[in-house]
Amino acid sequence: MNKVILITGSSSGIGKETVKLFQTKNWKVAATMRTPEKADDLQRIADIECIRLDVTDVGSIKSAIQETIDKFGQIDAIVNNAGYGLVGTFEAATPEQIEKQFQTNVFGLMNVCREILPHFRERKRGTIVNVASVGGRITFPLYSLYHATKWAVEGFSESLHYEIRPFNIKVKIIEPGPIKTDFYERSQDLTTKEELDAYDGYVEKVFPRMQRSGENAPDGSLVAEVIYNAVTDGSWKMRYPANSRMLLTLRRILPNALFYWLIRQSTMR
Ligand SMILES: NC(=O)c1ccc[n+]([C@@H]2O[C@H](COP(=O)([O-])OP(=O)(O)OC[C@H]3O[C@@H](n4cnc5c(N)ncnc54)[C@H](OP(=O)(O)O)[C@@H]3O)[C@@H](O)[C@H]2O)c1
Repeated sequence: MNKVILITGSSSGIGKETVKLFQTKNWKVAATMRTPEKADDLQRIADIECIRLDVTDVGSIKSAIQETIDKFGQIDAIVNNAGYGLVGTFEAATPEQIEKQFQTNVFGLMNVCREILPHFRERKRGTIVNVASVGGRITFPLYSLYHATKWAVEGFSESLHYEIRPFNIKVKIIEPGPIKTDFYERSQDLTTKEELDAYDGYVEKVFPRMQRSGENAPDGSLVAEVIYNAVTDGSWKMRYPANSRMLLTLRRILPNALFYWLIRQSTMR
């Protein structure tokens, strides 16, 4: 019998590439997104069902899960991929921007976990894939709020694994480095406060440098392969870096002060 996967944030980037890859590997795919009516290309592919799901709307999560089970019979794995970056100085961010960042990247991901766990416990198996980031293990300037959400995802996922492993449910954390997607353009939310000009010189130097890391990056298909491996490798391994091994190794072996100096140097150039 074909296996079934539900993926959030499937309209673009990593989510969309992951939908396409699993379909080619003979999985049935629930490609969930906020506006499925725009996904003409995916709608035309066999074994892909485009379903509305906004991670901040619990009702839409419940009905997307039910629709997937009704259509395909079960769910074997879910990928919590939906997310975006709130970028800029912390002081310029509004409380509403901060709340939305956490509602999407953290509470949205938790909402999906809460709704899928009864199904996985009943089946005595299942895999939860949480797309965190290398930014869930290390930090860069101007991303304090995004990092706060991804560090939350790392901690949440790691602790969750203890209580769900006895039910034969796996948690996998994906840690991509920069990937060329809508993350650096359409999806990005910028913090700006007109009357606050104290940071202007710093932002003018560092922001373009951070944006460039996205321009020269690989595309989402690289992360889709890592997600496919995480779901199918049969192991209990938890963390899967993707184009981020070098940075994570440097973080592990360098003293803190030296690592922070390196990041300061490389982002101010
Ligand atoms: N690109 C990178 O450098 C990078 C690196 C590490 C980790 N990541 C993570 O990878 C994941 C995917 O990002 P991406 O790079 O593929 O960027 P992307 O192309 O901008 O994709 C983001 C997806 O999230 C969806 N989304 C946003 N808010 C949502 C909500 N409330 N409910 C459901 N879906 C929502 C977007 O849907 P709409 O089309 O409706 O906006 C879009 O499909 C994110 O969690 C991101 O943090 C990205």
